[in-house]
Parts: sequence; structure tokens; C-alpha cells
Amino acid sequence: MMSIETKFINRELEIEALRKLAYRDFSNVLYIYGPEGCGKTRLLREFINEFDGIGIYIDALERENMESAILLSPLARKAKDMLITLAEQVTGPVGRWLCTEILSLVERISLKVQLQDRGLVIMVDDVTRALGLDEIEHYIKWLYELRWRIAKEYRPKFVLIIATTSEGYSLSRVIRHTYNVANLLWNLNRDASIKLMLQLDPPSMHAIDSVWRLTGGNPRRIIEIATIFQWDIERWLTRLELELRSLVRIIKAEQLVHEVMQLIEDPDILDRQPTHKLERAYRILLESNLMMYSGLMLLSSWIEEDKSKWKLKADEELGIGEYYAWQIPAYKQVLCRLLKG
Ligand SMILES: Nc1ncnc2c1ncn2[C@@H]1O[C@H](COP(=O)(O)OP(=O)(O)OP(=O)(O)O)[C@@H](O)[C@H]1O
Ligand SMILES: [Mg+2]
Repeated sequence: MMSIETKFINRELEIEALRKLAYRDFSNVLYIYGPEGCGKTRLLREFINEFDGIGIYIDALERENMESAILLSPLARKAKDMLITLAEQVTGPVGRWLCTEILSLVERISLKVQLQDRGLVIMVDDVTRALGLDEIEHYIKWLYELRWRIAKEYRPKFVLIIATTSEGYSLSRVIRHTYNVANLLWNLNRDASIKLMLQLDPPSMHAIDSVWRLTGGNPRRIIEIATIFQWDIERWLTRLELELRSLVRIIKAEQLVHEVMQLIEDPDILDRQPTHKLERAYRILLESNLMMYSGLMLLSSWIEEDKSKWKLKADEELGIGEYYAWQIPAYKQVLCRLLKG
């Protein structure tokens, strides 16, 4: 996607949480949910690269290249060539195919590496976009059942299965089942965002501050502003405005301007005073990936003793409420400007 590879920043708590979950009997599917570009893929890949058990990462969206569709932990790499040859059998998109062939992957790995007494982690990245909303519910159920089959047939010490998505709308389909645990991964915090920006030749402290306020620490947006837009924030905002224009048309046509303005002011209005029109406005913003439900436990909560840190902290300026949030603050700022104009 983005050609530049930034130095991996922060996320110590999340890596530790994943490690902790990999070494216990976690029988549910862990569903990681977070804003587009917040760093889900990067986190999973960094984890797999360091994991000392058997780790399999699948990029469900990869269409052609088997080498980029699958990433193995160091211990599992002995089986890599064998897995790559699997690609010869694949006719459609390779990532999607891998999603359904997890059992054959495990089987092939088991021929090269002893699975017994080891931790096994299987990560399927971007499931909703790859499989579509209609299939996601079944697929997650299937993953859950797969976990038991793998545990029985290959007897690893532990099995952890993780799926990720940024599609807010998929959450409602997944969260209601008892075989899932959904966790939130949010954008980078302020310190980490500044560290990331310092890698990218920022022109001034002022620019760093503006980019933090606009992106709320979303690493993909930060990198985009710094590289593609060469820190020209005005140009980046103008592009965003042009992209959101058609959405503004829909909001106006649906007569939901007032409700969207309410959500801009305070996303939690939806929780406190739900109305039919607010629901409709939220639904449009959810489906366009501008807002999402943020009331889940954070992934990092698994290793936090301090209860006040189990959930994302509300922040008015960033557009984060207790339960609902804007994926990045720039969306609410740009929408506000367009709706008023
Ligand atoms: N902790 C981090 N440190 C440095 N760079 C990061 C970090 N997290 C993410 N990035 C970079 O930010 C960009 C977006 O991250 P990534 O692709 O992981 O997001 P994502 O949440 O998987 O997005 P999507 O929702 O589209 O799948 C990538 O270029 C990635 O390398
Ligand atoms: Mg991703």
C-alpha cells in the first residue's frame, strides 16, 4: 500500500497483550477492530515477526502474491517453501483462498515443525473487506470451530485465532455472538504520533501540532500528509473536502444536517438521546467509515490493572466519546465546514 516503511513505534502494551493471549487458553476468536489505517496490520505483522511459537499471518485482501499474502513466525518459516508452492493451485484471489485453507496450512507446517507443546497463533487480517458483510458472521463461527479441530488434531499447547476489520458496520454482526471477543485498537497516542512525525522530516513544531489535531494520531494519515502531500496540510484538507462532498449531498438530501452537526459536537448524543434520525445519520457515517463504535475494551486492557485504562479515553477535541467516535478529527472538521457552507 504505502511504499515507505516507518520505524515501528509504541504499541508495547498491545504486543504484550497479544503475547499474553497467545499463551493461555483463549478459546474465543479475538476480533480486533479499529479505525482505517490505525495500524492493525502493522501490529500483527510485527508480532508475528517476533513470536516464538508457530505464527501464521494471512492478508485476506491480497489478490495475487502468495509471498505477501502470508507471513510466518521465525519458527514456522521452515515450512515456507511448501506453503508457497500451494499458490500454484490457487485460481482466484490468493488471500481469500488462504482464509478458507487454514487447516491445510497448519497441516503442512506440522510436517516440518513439531506443533505439540507450542503456541499457535493464526491471524486473518481484513476479513470483512475480503469476504463481505454477508459472509463475515459465518466465517468467524467457522474460525471458532476450526480452533477446536486444530487443538484436537495437532495438540499445540495453545491456539489463538485473531481476525481484524476496520468496517464499523461488521461489528454489530460479530459482537452479539458468544464465541467472539471484540477488542478496540485505536490510533497512536500523542507522544507516539510525534515520534512517528519526527521520522518524516516535519517542517516545524507547529506542523506537528496541526497534524496531530487533524489526524488524531492515525499513522496512515500522518504518513500520507508527510510523504504524498509533503506536509502541505491545506492541500490535504482540500482533497478531503472534495472526497466528502458527495456524502454531504446525501446528508442534505436525507435532511440529516442537524443530526450530523449534533454528532460533530458530541458523538455520545447517540447514546444519551437516541432518535430515529440520529440513528440514520450515524449509520451513514458508520458505513462511510467516518465514525465508529469505540465503547469496546481496548486490546491493551488485557495487561492493564488500572480499570480506568480499559477503555479509550474520551476526548472532545479529537471527537472521541465514551461510546462513539470519529475515526479521525479531520472528518468532523471538514464535514462541519461543508455543512455550514
Ligand atoms: N506503530 C506504528 N509505528 C510506525 N508506523 C506505523 C505504526 N502503525 C502503523 N504504521 C504505518 O501506518 C500505515 C497504516 O498502518 P496499517 O496498514 O497497519 O493500518 P490498518 O489499521 O491495517 O489499516 P486498514 O484498516 O486499512 O487495514 C502503514 O504504513 C504502517 O506501516
Ligand atoms: Mg490493515
